[in-house]
Amino acid sequence: MAGKIPQHFIDELLARVDIVDVIDARVSLKKSGSNHMACCPFHNEKTPSFSVSQPKQFFHCFGCGASGSAIGFLMDYENLHFVDAVEMLADSIGMSVPRDEQAARRHDDSKPLYAVMDDVSSLYRRALRESPEAIDYLKRRGLDGDIAKRFGIGWTPTERDALQRHFPSSIDALVKCGMLTTGSDGTRAPYARFRERVMFPIRDRRGRTIGFGGRVLNDSEPKYLNSPETPIFHKGSEVYGLYEARRAAQEANFVIVVEGYMDVVALAQAGIDNAVATLGTAANRQHSEMLFRTVPNIVFCFDGDRAGKQAAWRALQATLTLLEDGRDAHFLFLPDGEDPDSYVKEHGKAGFDALLNTRIPIVDQLYAHLANDVDMNSVGGKAQLAERAKPLVNAIPRGVYKQLALQRLESLIGLSMGSARAGAPARPATRTADGGGGLTPMSRAVLLVLQFPAVVASQPAEAYEFDESLAGASVLMKLVGYCEAEPGMTTARLLERFRGTADERAVNNLAQRRWWPDGRELDSDTAEEEFAHCMSRLAEQSRPDPSAGVEAQARTGLLAVKRRR
Ligand code: GTP
Ligand code: MN
Repeated sequence: MAGKIPQHFIDELLARVDIVDVIDARVSLKKSGSNHMACCPFHNEKTPSFSVSQPKQFFHCFGCGASGSAIGFLMDYENLHFVDAVEMLADSIGMSVPRDEQAARRHDDSKPLYAVMDDVSSLYRRALRESPEAIDYLKRRGLDGDIAKRFGIGWTPTERDALQRHFPSSIDALVKCGMLTTGSDGTRAPYARFRERVMFPIRDRRGRTIGFGGRVLNDSEPKYLNSPETPIFHKGSEVYGLYEARRAAQEANFVIVVEGYMDVVALAQAGIDNAVATLGTAANRQHSEMLFRTVPNIVFCFDGDRAGKQAAWRALQATLTLLEDGRDAHFLFLPDGEDPDSYVKEHGKAGFDALLNTRIPIVDQLYAHLANDVDMNSVGGKAQLAERAKPLVNAIPRGVYKQLALQRLESLIGLSMGSARAGAPARPATRTADGGGGLTPMSRAVLLVLQFPAVVASQPAEAYEFDESLAGASVLMKLVGYCEAEPGMTTARLLERFRGTADERAVNNLAQRRWWPDGRELDSDTAEEEFAHCMSRLAEQSRPDPSAGVEAQARTGLLAVKRRR
């Protein structure tokens, strides 16, 4: 949802920026016909299938299906949340984002927090340079200065009141960020939460420091101390190292999820730059969602012991529901007693790469876990497995993975699932020689308006008198309304109005769907003709059946009335 940013601002912003400039600044585009092309930044490819349309202000990759507006591009490419992407885009053309008062206050409140966290991080880095003890510790753990610098690793200054002394006017902010604490009952004078620890800054996707993890040098307890929840730091949804790993992960096309700060840093030291860590919590759905926004493949890495298997199971359940086509997840188990840090130190990058080759596909791991304690030689055991699998398989979005999981289950239990079948099997796509093959007239009309907003103006008002209760009618009416209100409407601006609504996915799919089965592009004249045809089909579908009641007839008329308002 556009949240607290008014829709009219989003619309104006998209009318003022040019998606070609926005993308070309990041991915070099080549003009080809009416489009601009490049190799897709969101998946690995050698021939360009990433296309940017200036008239539509819309990008689309025919290879991986990524698509959207300039805002959507920044969200995907820079890994930003919607509001951050809007801000970045507005900044780039000197517009400032209006917000409602409450949101504005919250926003202004957090600005000093980011600033003070960055200042603290610099202070810690300087302190590290002056601490032979801490430097020696990092060296003993095999880290060199370059890696320490890349991850911004620091050390808490020795003086207990260093934070207060360096930032006397930011005491409140330091307390809010959890760097100073006033004791569990909040009555003590502010004192430093972290003392005598090696400090790992936790950065958000924009590279801003939002929290820290601190490790002791010896074996005192607790070994690690993390920042508490603060207005800018939410442990459950952040991962350590994503800012640093993002580029490498996109190049490798997968990200490795490990458990510890030191694992991430040690892997990077060995030349494996695409690892991130959860912050002392099991990988959850929010983590997987965020990672899938960066790369389509996740490799979860765990200890081979019981606790590791349990953590893997939680990560698996959290990830199943996100397994849309094009995404994938694997599980990697380390030998007992090893963690990625110790493993890569002993076996080097080549050894870790070899280990990566033993990763287990998520569907295999699913059944391995479920079958673990049932007797697969007995009918009862098989029934038990099917029973346990059902809700999990049902949780997978319809697509290749669901099919695969069902097939695997059928072969494991040696019979057809019959009533246990989860969801309908994928229907073979009905391809006709017509454009918009396999779509209803309503979907075809929606597709055409999304891709060629100007078709709306080409039809007389009566063309839009169709039955409001037809599936998709409300979407078409909204689209028609938006296009009538603004003659220069673009695909991208239409799509942004559906962000966060129940129809978002459907309109996105239709906006990137090709009209002709052979993939040719539709031209605007043909689009107009086809649209007229669709609208007359809709009118036929809506023509009141003389035997139908007054109510149905009234419904058909209602739209025309609404439109004339
Ligand atoms: P090293 O001993 O430095 O190699 O750390 P490690 O990464 O091997 O640590 P371990 O496997 O014990 O812990 C993994 C992660 O769990 C750490 O990176 C922390 O995020 C978290 N963690 C470990 N110990 C503590 C602790 O005592 N307190 C808290 N809050 N978190 C911890
Ligand atoms: Mn370790």
